Amino acid sequence: MSGQGSEPLVSVVQGTKIYQGSKAISGVDFDIRPGEVHGLVGENGAGKSTLCKALAGAISLSSGDILLDGRKITFDTPADALAAGIVMVYQETSLIPTMTVAQNIILGREKVLTRLRGMYIAAQQLLQSMNFHVDPTAMVSTLGAAQKQMVEIARAVHHRARLIIFDEPTATLTPEEKLHFFDLIHRLKAEGVAIIFISHALEEALELTDRVTVLRDGERVFSGPTRGMTRETLVRHMVGRDLSQTHYAEARKPQATGARKKKVLSVQNVIMGKMVRNMSFSVYAGEITGISGLIGSGRTEIAKVVAGVLKRNFIYGGMIYLNGKPIRYRIPRQAIADGIVYITEDRKLNGFFETMRIDENIYTAKLATPEGSAVLVSRREQSSVGNDWIQRMKIRAINSRARIVELSGGNQQKVVVAKSLVQKPKVVFFDEPTRGVDVGAIAEIHDFIRSLAAQGMAVVVISSYLPEILSLSDRILVARQGRIVEEFSSTEASEEKIMYAAIH
Ligand SMILES: Nc1ncnc2c1ncn2[C@@H]1O[C@H](COP(=O)(O)OP(=O)(O)OP(=O)(O)O)[C@@H](O)[C@H]1O
Ligand SMILES: [Mg+2]
Repeated sequence: MSGQGSEPLVSVVQGTKIYQGSKAISGVDFDIRPGEVHGLVGENGAGKSTLCKALAGAISLSSGDILLDGRKITFDTPADALAAGIVMVYQETSLIPTMTVAQNIILGREKVLTRLRGMYIAAQQLLQSMNFHVDPTAMVSTLGAAQKQMVEIARAVHHRARLIIFDEPTATLTPEEKLHFFDLIHRLKAEGVAIIFISHALEEALELTDRVTVLRDGERVFSGPTRGMTRETLVRHMVGRDLSQTHYAEARKPQATGARKKKVLSVQNVIMGKMVRNMSFSVYAGEITGISGLIGSGRTEIAKVVAGVLKRNFIYGGMIYLNGKPIRYRIPRQAIADGIVYITEDRKLNGFFETMRIDENIYTAKLATPEGSAVLVSRREQSSVGNDWIQRMKIRAINSRARIVELSGGNQQKVVVAKSLVQKPKVVFFDEPTRGVDVGAIAEIHDFIRSLAAQGMAVVVISSYLPEILSLSDRILVARQGRIVEEFSSTEASEEKIMYAAIH
């Protein structure tokens, strides 16, 4: 095991960060050595991102010290940290959407590469060396969540960082992309780069890291070698007790037989651009339909087309029916009026208004429905609707009037879900519904999704994570190259069968 025995590259001594009188982290000691992969785990809101943002110069500690090579150091900006060799790949992308991939990667070192052509060639070579399939000349705003993550990683590598912090890097990656990412981590480690790996995917943390630190309610509750740790011991440290149901529930029992199912939505031979080549499938009331497939298989795009998120003038062919009536939406509001909502995978981009409070966000969504626009805006209703959903989804912040930017990543995701469900949809598409959500809260969100189907809603779940698809779905569709290529019932589906269909 490398990294053992050498002096810490970076340490935090008694790190505390106070927001509005409450401690986000409290007296945390942490250190990392060159060539070490250090896992950082804990529930949503435990303080993982806060600790790392302090290391990366994005925020400053209220008290406590940061040591680099044993010497006390302060970072006023991320640029200071970057100059010292510390880069953070954020949970929420920090890329500049209106610039190209290459510009984003090179950003901050422009002087080294002044010529555009050289910049694109360098970015291309770097991306290729990491097996990332991203066009360096593409505008970042046109990329999906996973590709944005790849650009962030390339940026960190390009800057020859001594410490790279990955905040939830694998949540958006497909199994194949994950293998490339793990490869990359091993290569960086071999070069002596120190790596902090924040993740809710505990198996990955166990597999990838040399040491692991657990935070709970802003305090460090465990730090030690990963060897000998199990998922159960990690969870016990995270939640402070044994969690009876920490894993995914068994596959669902098949619902009512075909004849009695009510077809709500029918997609027939829809073609749109390069991503949706020829999609056909149906969605039924009271049922959870899972859609699996690699990134680029068209699964997200078809959901966006149905829900009016992608403009209909890109549709080249095919028909979509809602309760037998043909539909074609140009904007999401039209779909919402008919009861169809799409819950985004990229919450930063179109999830919510960041500087507004939780209740304002949820209430604004409610007002965007035909029913909602008929009522008078009421502060009292706003706070009662807000509080209701905060409790239902167990959204946690250190302050009840917190703005979205003040929430941890997992709690932001819950607001995204609440925002859409307050619109009382009849058909709901969840795209990666538990991305960034901790082990305990995943079970809660899954229960919630099941209860929606039980109430008669037609639910579609798009997920890269096969255990999630398998445990939630009544029926599983597999998308490949813009087509639905396979359909399995919950009883006949398995990870192997789905993977095979997704690739071959
Ligand atoms: N700018 C801020 N203002 C106020 N409170 C904040 C701010 N940033 C974070 N917090 C609070 O600090 C606590 C720790 O948040 P942090 O983002 O570090 O959690 P996390 O461990 O990264 O969680 P997750 O797994 O959900 O990403 C949370 O209660 C959060 O609401
Ligand atoms: Mg976080």
